[in-house]
Amino acid sequence: MLARCYRPKLSVWAALCVLVLCWFYIFPDYSVPRDKDIVEEVLRQGDVWHKNQTGIDLYRKLLTECCNPKRMFAVTKENSPMGKVLWYDGEIYHWHTVNNDTYPLFVQGSPLQLPLKKCAVVGNGGILRHSKWGRDIDQADFIMRCNLPPISKKYVEDVGTRTHLVTANPSIIEKRFKSLLWSRKAFVDSMKVYGSSYIYMPAFSMRPGTDPSLRAYHALADSNSSLTMLFANPEFLGTVGKFWKTHGVHARRLSTGLFLISLALGVCDEVTAYGFWPFSVGLDGQPISHHYYDNILPYKWFHAMPEEFVQLWHLHKSGTLRMRVGQCPSQNGGS
Ligand code: CDP
Repeated sequence: MLARCYRPKLSVWAALCVLVLCWFYIFPDYSVPRDKDIVEEVLRQGDVWHKNQTGIDLYRKLLTECCNPKRMFAVTKENSPMGKVLWYDGEIYHWHTVNNDTYPLFVQGSPLQLPLKKCAVVGNGGILRHSKWGRDIDQADFIMRCNLPPISKKYVEDVGTRTHLVTANPSIIEKRFKSLLWSRKAFVDSMKVYGSSYIYMPAFSMRPGTDPSLRAYHALADSNSSLTMLFANPEFLGTVGKFWKTHGVHARRLSTGLFLISLALGVCDEVTAYGFWPFSVGLDGQPISHHYYDNILPYKWFHAMPEEFVQLWHLHKSGTLRMRVGQCPSQNGGS
């Protein structure tokens, strides 16, 4: 009798426990360092940096094992033949089956000419403004940029001019180019600044992103653009997301910059990251804008850029990659 009375209560407790566990899985208990503490930590470290080949080899091995960036970062005819099901990484249950319309749009195999020696990954952080890293960035062998950023004359000194791969979020196509439903000219013209680089679009991540991405492909192809469209492989994006989750990054979705750094760590001999600084003050304690070109903040809860920065800073301190924050010493009167 007594046991029968308690049974419902036990199941309530069990359900509560499951809920709490789920809560901690989705929103784990981690502490985000304060902007001030990060600034102090970065200033303490100063310009000290030593390349660590063991760290570089280790991360290349870990990323190759989990995510195989070389083969999987883009959708190719080799990794996604006709009939292959591409599961959207940003949706719960949605897929695209490769068909006669999409298969011809994919490049044949991995488009990267490996090995890539020095890679520069350029984030869009406001820390780049007046930094004068442009010349240093332009000296890299392979330069990656995020979200079709401006690289006009106004910013050249700070961000450089050359680009080998640039990402384009479908939401930019929707907002800036009205989904390419009315005119393609503004889009095609504004892409010329990226020369003959790869344009990397997550066409199969979220449902609303597919059509604008395919329209962007056709707009470039029909205008004989010298850019090559690469569609981000949702399997790669998913496995990279899981990789960083086990390394302390708890975001609904990784930032574009971290996807590119993961690719670079997997395929480049040396990685330098610029413009990664998701904090509201610079190293001099003065307020800075979120981007080097505007101050539009990201959606709260979507990315976890400060946690990403902490992981990247660990990699910097261990000599696995180099983070460039603050100003370029050689262009600002330093050595
Ligand atoms: O699309 P998403 O919000 O990820 O990127 P974005 O605002 O266009 O910036 C490109 C990348 O730069 C981000 O994905 C971050 O990795 C990095 N970023 C940063 O570290 N700090 C900032 N204040 C802004 C961007």
